[in-house]
Formats: sequence, C-alpha cells, structure tokens
Amino acid sequence: MKKPLLFAQELVKNTVKEGEIVVDATCGNGHDTVFLAQCVGAKGHVYAFDIQKEAIISTEKRIKSAGVQERVTLKNVSHAKREFWPQEPLAAVMFNLGYLPGGDHAIVTKAESTVAALQIAINSLKQGGIITLVVYTGHPGGKEEYQAVRDFCTALPQQDFTVLEYQFINQINYPPLLLAVKRL
Ligand SMILES: C[S@@+](CC[C@H](N)C(=O)[O-])C[C@H]1O[C@@H](n2cnc3c(N)ncnc32)[C@H](O)[C@@H]1O
Repeated sequence: MKKPLLFAQELVKNTVKEGEIVVDATCGNGHDTVFLAQCVGAKGHVYAFDIQKEAIISTEKRIKSAGVQERVTLKNVSHAKREFWPQEPLAAVMFNLGYLPGGDHAIVTKAESTVAALQIAINSLKQGGIITLVVYTGHPGGKEEYQAVRDFCTALPQQDFTVLEYQFINQINYPPLLLAVKRL
C-alpha cells in the first residue's frame, strides 16, 4: 500500500498525457514539480506556485538538475491569485499542504487560501483531469484546513466529480492523508 504522496503521483501519472498543462500549487522543494514535468514531457508545461522565495530557489535548482527547466514556469505568489494561473484547461493540479520541509514551520498553507485555490483548480480542470491534495493535520491550523478542504470536496456534485479520501487509519502521529478529485 503506497503512502499518500506516492499514491497521489500514481493517480496523476495514470491521468496526465504528454503535451498537457498542469499545476503544482505548492512547489516547496520541487519534488512534485519535477515529477509533473516528467509526466507532461517536452511539449507540455508545468506552472508551479510558492509564496516562499526559498522554495522557488530550491525548486529551480531541482528542475535544472533534472534538465526539465524549459517546461516549468515558477510563480513566487499565492496560488489563491487567479490572475497568475494559466488560461488553458488543466490535466492535473497537485497540492502538498502544510510547511516547507527544512524551512520555517510557521509558514503553512491556510484554509482560506487553499480553498480559494482549490476552487480555481476545479474551474480550470479539463474533463478527466485530476486534483490531488496531500493534507497534514499535526501542526497548528492543520485540522481546520483539512476540515475546510474536505467540506469543499464533499459538496462537489457526484454527477460531475469523483472524490476519494485515502488514509492509513491505524498510524500514530497524524499521518498525512490524500484527497483526490477527478472531473468526469
Ligand atoms: C509541504 S510544502 C510542499 C512540498 C513540495 N511539494 C515538495 O515536493 O517539496 C508546502 C508549501 O506550500 C507553500 N505555501 C504556503 N502557502 C501558500 C500559498 N498561499 N500559495 C502557494 N504556496 C504556498 C509553502 O511555502 C511550502 O513551501
């Protein structure tokens, strides 16, 4: 059984085709950005957001060493700002919530801006496209953010979206969980 981060990647890999446009809503250290860039290939494109300069620099290094920098546009702004999102229909949007590993643990994604970005992602998602959210509940504000995101996902109409929740339920210390939304 895969951990939520890897299961999110598996779902995305099974959905995204070469040449498509995707978003990494929280690029952090750039692991998902590189993964997405490999999924879309040389003809596709990844738009990657982070509010921290440190995260953008770290992602820039990682995409350069993976040789995929040509197919990535980095955006050092909040994912809640609609005007910075691409206009094209999106095949996938990945969120990895919480704080930057190795960074300032006080800078975290927040319920209000995460839900705002999720709404933009939903509006931008092409038919068959997928949104994944890896969610952490162990830090201050984490549970509230999870509840807000989960409420949003629960309210999505069943005829238009399939929503999955994936979680190990016998682990200590607040293991991460995955929410995934697919547009039908
Ligand atoms: C768990 S980390 C992401 C890890 C990343 N996916 C990786 O592979 O390393 C969460 C990131 O979200 C960023 N973040 C917090 N609020 C944000 C916002 N409103 N818009 C974009 N990024 C945000 C943080 O700066 C942090 O780098």
